[in-house]
Amino acid sequence: MDFETLRNKKIKVGGFVLMMVPATMEYAKEIFKIVSQDPKNMIFWMPDGLFESPEHVLISYYQRNHSNRSLMFGIFKDNKLLGEIGFSGIMQKSGKVEIGYWLRKSERGKGIINKLLPRIEKMAFEQDWCHKIQLHCDAKNIASKTIAEQNGYTLEGVIRQDAKWPNGSIRDKLYFGKLKSE
Ligand SMILES: CC(C)(COP(=O)(O)OP(=O)(O)OC[C@H]1O[C@@H](n2cnc3c(N)ncnc32)[C@H](O)[C@@H]1OP(=O)(O)O)[C@@H](O)C(=O)NCCC(=O)NCCS
Repeated sequence: MDFETLRNKKIKVGGFVLMMVPATMEYAKEIFKIVSQDPKNMIFWMPDGLFESPEHVLISYYQRNHSNRSLMFGIFKDNKLLGEIGFSGIMQKSGKVEIGYWLRKSERGKGIINKLLPRIEKMAFEQDWCHKIQLHCDAKNIASKTIAEQNGYTLEGVIRQDAKWPNGSIRDKLYFGKLKSE
């Protein structure tokens, strides 16, 4: 199934439903609350700066839902939004995708990303054009680094002082990759 078709699908996997989070004010308020209650961890997901208001979330999700450069799925259980997983970057011309994910605080430590990641990888490698999955994380993001290692990603490099966070902290980034042939 191609990414355009997946964009409009509800995918059932391991007791969860994956589907794009609708760009509505209701979800924007919920996501704003999740992010603003946990800035210390959510900055790992949004290193350029956290959402400033529900309106900011709404605009960002509207743009994202209409862009073919990313494809993020909300992770739903019993209609509750637990987090997101998917393709934070789609680089079709160069044959790669970048995978990204986050969970609300109460849902961490349950192995949810490890459960869903193989399904997301399958979606990527089912695309004829996709030969590689990239996974980038802050060097101090132990949970994400562990997920990459547990799922067979190779650490391809440490990019030193790759970014400056809004608080001025200068950050190293780990570049992990997995090839279709692996
Ligand atoms: C990244 C994230 C989605 C992972 O959540 P999760 O799937 O519940 O992952 P876990 O908390 O189970 O952590 C994964 C593994 O790392 C380990 N781990 C997590 N934090 C750790 C720490 N501080 N020290 C040592 N090990 C740690 C866990 O024990 C687990 O290993 P296990 O399966 O052997 O028990 C979640 O931490 C999150 O939403 N973080 C904020 C956003 C973010 O960082 N997104 C990713 C950007 S690259």
